[in-house]
Amino acid sequence: MRIPCRIVAEILQLLKHEVHPGVTSMALNNLAEKEARKHGSLPAFKGYSGYPFSLCCSLNDQVVHGMPTTHPLKNGDILSVDFGVVCGGYYGDAALTLSVGDVSDNAKRLMMATENSLYEAIDQAKPGNRLSDVSHAVQSYVESRGFSVVRDFVGHGIGKNLHESPQVPNFGLPGRGVKLKPGMVLAIEPMINEFGPDVKVLRDGWTAVTCDGGLSAHFEHTVAITENGPEILTKL
Ligand code: MF3
Ligand code: CO
Repeated sequence: MRIPCRIVAEILQLLKHEVHPGVTSMALNNLAEKEARKHGSLPAFKGYSGYPFSLCCSLNDQVVHGMPTTHPLKNGDILSVDFGVVCGGYYGDAALTLSVGDVSDNAKRLMMATENSLYEAIDQAKPGNRLSDVSHAVQSYVESRGFSVVRDFVGHGIGKNLHESPQVPNFGLPGRGVKLKPGMVLAIEPMINEFGPDVKVLRDGWTAVTCDGGLSAHFEHTVAITENGPEILTKL
C-alpha cells in the first residue's frame, strides 16, 4: 500500500503548485489522471459508483464529492482536492484543502484547524487504542475552536478496496469501537464546517454542500497502524 499511497501523495503535491486564480478544476482533474497513469496506476474514483471524474474538487461551501468544472478558480476561493489511485490491487486515498490566492482569515483558521485535527486523530491511530479515540480527537480539537464536524460522511478502512470496514466517524466518545491492531489501514478524513454541521447533496447526486452556506474544509490521509504507531502512507 506504500506504492499507491506515495503516488497519491506525489500527485497532490503537484496539484498544490497548480492551484491559482484562473486555473480550472477540470485542468487539475486531467493532470491528476494523466499523472496517475504515468506512474502505472489507475485513478480510483473514476467509475466508482458511477462517479464520472478522477478527482473530487470541492469549492468553498462544497464539503466533499464536488465535481471538476471549467469555471476558473477565483482569488479568495478554498478548494479541496481529493484523489485516490489503485496500483497492484491496492488503493491509496488522500485529500487537502488549498487557498486560491489570498483567502479570508476565517478560511485560513478553518483550514488550519481541519488539518491539525487530522494530525491529532492520526496520533491516536496506534495499537491498543480504540477506533473512536481517533474520532474523538477530531471532534474535540475542532469544536474547541468553534467549528463543527460533518456527521453524514466518514472515513473508512482501505486496502484491496477503496472503502472497507470500519467506518471512521469524526465525532464520538473515546474508548469505543474496534481495538486498533498492527496491519490495519485507515483513511482518516475530517470534514469540518465554518458554521453548522448540516450538509445536503445537490441534485447531481454527488456534490455535498453546507446547508447554511458556510465554508467547509477537508483533509485526508491513508494511515497504517504499526507496532511503532501510525505510519502516514500518503505523506512524502
Ligand atoms: N476520498 C473520498 C472517499 O474516500 C472519495 C470518494 S469519491 C468517489 O470517499 F467517487 F469515489 F466515490
Ligand atoms: Co476517503
